[in-house]
Amino acid sequence: MTTSAKKSMPLQNRSRMKIYNVDVNLTQKCTFGCEYCFEGCDDSKLKDFYDPMLLKHFIFKLIDSPWFKKNYEALNIGLWGGEPTIKSDWIIDLIETFMFDTVKFGLFTNGYKIDYELRKILTDVRSFKVCGQPKVTTQISYDGRPIHDLYRRDKFNSLTSTTVRDQILKFDRDRIPVVIKSVVTPESFKYMYDAYKDIKSLYKECKNNTTLNYFPTIDYYGTNNLDHTELETAKKELKDVLIKIASEEIHIEGDKFFFRWFNNTRNLCTAGHGMVAVDVDGHIYTCHACLYDDRQKKFKHRISNIELETVVDDLERMHNEFAVGLQDEGDCKNCDVNFCLRCNHAKYDQSKRKGYLDKWRDYQNQPNLCEFYKINSVVTKSIHEHRRNK
Ligand SMILES: C[S@@+](CC[C@H](N)C(=O)[O-])C[C@H]1O[C@@H](n2cnc3c(N)ncnc32)[C@H](O)[C@@H]1O
Repeated sequence: MTTSAKKSMPLQNRSRMKIYNVDVNLTQKCTFGCEYCFEGCDDSKLKDFYDPMLLKHFIFKLIDSPWFKKNYEALNIGLWGGEPTIKSDWIIDLIETFMFDTVKFGLFTNGYKIDYELRKILTDVRSFKVCGQPKVTTQISYDGRPIHDLYRRDKFNSLTSTTVRDQILKFDRDRIPVVIKSVVTPESFKYMYDAYKDIKSLYKECKNNTTLNYFPTIDYYGTNNLDHTELETAKKELKDVLIKIASEEIHIEGDKFFFRWFNNTRNLCTAGHGMVAVDVDGHIYTCHACLYDDRQKKFKHRISNIELETVVDDLERMHNEFAVGLQDEGDCKNCDVNFCLRCNHAKYDQSKRKGYLDKWRDYQNQPNLCEFYKINSVVTKSIHEHRRNK
């Protein structure tokens, strides 16, 4: 397509929109105490965003800037926490303030408590679109039973899966755009088949939502500390469970699998280039994972502050610096796994390299994660081959 043809096309019809992502830590406070969570939850130290008014000023400044207009068609605000629904009045205010701008929102929630007003606005805007995508999408963290009940308990150690599951069904009933996000740890690989079955049955109960699937992330931070026996046990349990899942997925018609690890996804994260994260004190960092580092470590990932005169220039500089080699897989070029999720922040933390971007993109320095994704790749190859021969 020529550039002029693309320009004249209605925004809604373009397939790949250029969207800049700003995750905002609305509050560090949370209603859950998830065992694997990279945030920690020492209640006495947790804060809310310092001034929501200044946040709105920053968003206006960003979307009105020539740099943003030249490079992006929409802004996505990730409503992040802690548990952002604790500040539901701020969420409502943000959605109302930017209702008619090319600003969309992604709400990241544990789905435990969505109050009446928040549910109302999510319902009111459910059919609104920005560049063909929903004005507000909600991601509910649900690991599937029994994993969810093992790791995602509330502050009082009570089980939460029934409430969260019901919440997902309510969203579906009200046609509010929702996706599920799951996490799995090496110790819980053995339960993945049950979690997969649970999420599949949830999907079947949904009347309107066709986008749910089982898409677990392996805990980025806890996998490097396994000893030899733990690693070998985890590998065996992963292989066994993937074969079990494959024996069900083999019957799925069409070109996509319900279990996302069997599809081909090797995208690299665009943190720093196409996304940044704003902390509760207004400082801006390369991505949301940086928000939970201790002060000294955090400083290395700091880009700017929402109140600085130079804030948009700082984002532009970062954008340009990170553009170099952004989709270069480096040492992974010759690896043929079909799917893997690489978290640059976790890589940086563990890297022995020197320069910032070298550490940030030290993709192979979590060898246990590589081993797990390689096991998945072997199973994926055989299921793809089976499909071809059908
Ligand atoms: C930190 S939470 C914040 C938003 C909200 N409280 C929630 O539970 O979704 C955002 C996401 O990070 C995921 N997460 C937490 N710790 C993780 C880890 N160690 N590895 C991978 N993902 C993790 C959670 O499961 C959740 O989906």
